[in-house]
Amino acid sequence: MISIDRDGEVAVVTVDNPPVNALGQPLRQALWDAVGTLDADPAIRAVVLICAGRTFIAGADVTEFGKPPVPPHLPDLVDRLEQASKPWVAAIHGSALGGGFEVAMGCRFRVALDTAAVGLPEVSLGIVPGASGTVRTPRLAGVEAAVDLVTTGRSVKAARALTMGLVDAVVSKDLRAEAVAFARIALTQALPQPISARPVTAPDAAWWDEQRTAIAKRAKGEVAPLRALDCLRIAAEKPFAEAMAFERATFLELRVSEQAAALRHIFFAERGAARPAHLGDAKPKDIRSAAVIGGGTMGAGIAAALRDAGLPVTLIERDEEAVRRGLANLRSIFDGAVKRGKLTEVQAQARMDGVTSGSDYALLSDTDLVIEAVFEDLAVKRAVFAQLGQTCRADAILATNTSYLDPRRIAEGLPHPDRFIGLHFFSPANVMKLLEIVPMPDTSSETLATGFALARQLGKIPVQAGICDGFIGNRILKRYRSEAEALVRHGTPIATIDAAMRGHGFAMGPFEAQDLGGLDIAYLQREGARAAGQDVPETLGDILVRAGRKGQKTGGGWYDYAPGDRTPKPSEAAAGLLADRIGTGPGLTAEDIATRLTAAMAAEGKAILAEGIALKPSDIDLVEVHGYGYPRWRGGPMFDADASQRSV
Ligand code: 3HC
Ligand code: NAI
Repeated sequence: MISIDRDGEVAVVTVDNPPVNALGQPLRQALWDAVGTLDADPAIRAVVLICAGRTFIAGADVTEFGKPPVPPHLPDLVDRLEQASKPWVAAIHGSALGGGFEVAMGCRFRVALDTAAVGLPEVSLGIVPGASGTVRTPRLAGVEAAVDLVTTGRSVKAARALTMGLVDAVVSKDLRAEAVAFARIALTQALPQPISARPVTAPDAAWWDEQRTAIAKRAKGEVAPLRALDCLRIAAEKPFAEAMAFERATFLELRVSEQAAALRHIFFAERGAARPAHLGDAKPKDIRSAAVIGGGTMGAGIAAALRDAGLPVTLIERDEEAVRRGLANLRSIFDGAVKRGKLTEVQAQARMDGVTSGSDYALLSDTDLVIEAVFEDLAVKRAVFAQLGQTCRADAILATNTSYLDPRRIAEGLPHPDRFIGLHFFSPANVMKLLEIVPMPDTSSETLATGFALARQLGKIPVQAGICDGFIGNRILKRYRSEAEALVRHGTPIATIDAAMRGHGFAMGPFEAQDLGGLDIAYLQREGARAAGQDVPETLGDILVRAGRKGQKTGGGWYDYAPGDRTPKPSEAAAGLLADRIGTGPGLTAEDIATRLTAAMAAEGKAILAEGIALKPSDIDLVEVHGYGYPRWRGGPMFDADASQRSV
């Protein structure tokens, strides 16, 4: 797990604990012992700590969190490193995260490769740093930097880490050789104080209050960021040992909390989703070029996601006018990224330069992957695939982004149907992390594996879904909305329902969200089903749309909106339209409402599992967390429903 070799008077300790050098008990013990061995070795004057594999130590071993802690405990190991009689130099590549960065702070110096990143992501696991992250970071980089790092959980790249004072040097070539050279130079100078002995300047009470207000607003019910702030304040105001004891107590308490369990559940579900076991050893195809048919809301977003991943993209539209509109849609996505500081002008231009466009399908004769995102109309989509079947290479992967149509019907008659698949993106497609992957009966395992590999290439979370109306996500959304309408019919005010779901941790309630997205999309889909002879009962949403209330874009839907203002205001007009459908049931508490709506989602999830539409409950949780704003710290509807049963 670790090996020690010597480069003159510098020892090099190499950690090799795949996959990410996590600090499980055996590794903690090995490092503990290494300090003793090297302290006792008179030939050694300094130690470089470096890691094999893809990364420096990525943190504590998250799989140990459900179990009782076993010594040596990480905070003790970090202290021991700091108190070693020889200075240790952490040589960081990949990521030094959580306990990994805490170990690096136990070292007297930190040297990072220019591609490395450091951070304290513990709050994203529902905990606080547990081995001095909240106590040493303010002493290393100042309170403001520490608060930003710890309460957001965001990591920082090497160059920024250097300016923040989190690392001492950034190197670009041979990390080991440069870290050894760094150690040799360090030995010629007076050593800096260990971090625990450095002073910290505490901000005043008003500053802490401001931070608390800002973090509470962001956290929306998540407890760890605020508890981390408490730790940081104690660290700034109290002696080192007292702050360490406070941090440890907070860490141990949160480690066994329901929120931490939920966040761990999502953490492992995300990692499992990228490479599901059922793909076996199916090899994905290499995707080196892609095309999108349709440059509307989704097409432009998908094209942007493909360009962000560095793929050359061909955009096909109906005619030259539509091509211009499609390119303008794409341009405005990149312009928005420039405005938000995510891209430079030059990068945005390079993104556009990688796009070929036109209305001639001959442009697709050598494209590896084509994603169709034209109108949600079976005849239009079938005509598109008929052309794709004629013009694309026989081995090109062909995908549809349909939301509700049966993909099998879209691809009827397509030559080589084994390369056809559903790739259902979410709006905005360049931002939303979820990708539902929908195989057909004929889809080959190679095509399916390519869908998953593409998700990785695009930085998305893939979830496999079977064929049904709305796949996993939109089917649950329909159930959620219908249950929310049932509460309105029962007599619960619309605004009370939205407030209850915000209270549960959603950014928006179900009615506010519909007003934002527009009620007409789902309405048209219901009308289509009715026209096709299906029995679709009238919804309250239908009544509003028929009265011209389609949401924010028409000045009102479930709520009213003043021009240019997105604040929902209770609507007398909507109340009037719905009056004769609304009963006078007893009032429900916010908790009753949230329980009822999330239970409805979980019940639909169960049905989806029973039908084999989703392969496992955690897939449903990922769909809801990454596609529909389900609070991550509640673990998604399936985990949430289990949690509420556990607490009964
Ligand atoms: N503990 C246990 N297993 C871990 C782990 C951890 N901290 N981090 C990653 N893994 C596992 C993953 O589950 C995955 O396992 P699998 O191959 O069986 O599915 C494998 O390592 C590879 O993970 P990724 O697919 O995420 O690998 P990448 O190369 O894409 O990313 C990474 C590498 C950036 C290090 C990423 O794994 C990561 O962000 N890990 C989490 C880091 C983290 O949260 N650390 C803080 C832990 S809490 C802590 O340290 C508390 C301390 O303060 C006391
Ligand atoms: P949109 O109306 O914004 O864009 C459709 C585009 O397709 C238009 O630019 C149109 O000119 C173009 N088009 C139509 N026929 C064409 C043809 N024969 N050849 C080339 N281009 C053609 O629609 P939107 O919202 O982008 O939806 C597209 C698809 O994505 C639909 O199937 C929809 O169900 C699906 N979808 C939509 C989501 C959303 O939130 N809007 C989310 C996920 C999927």
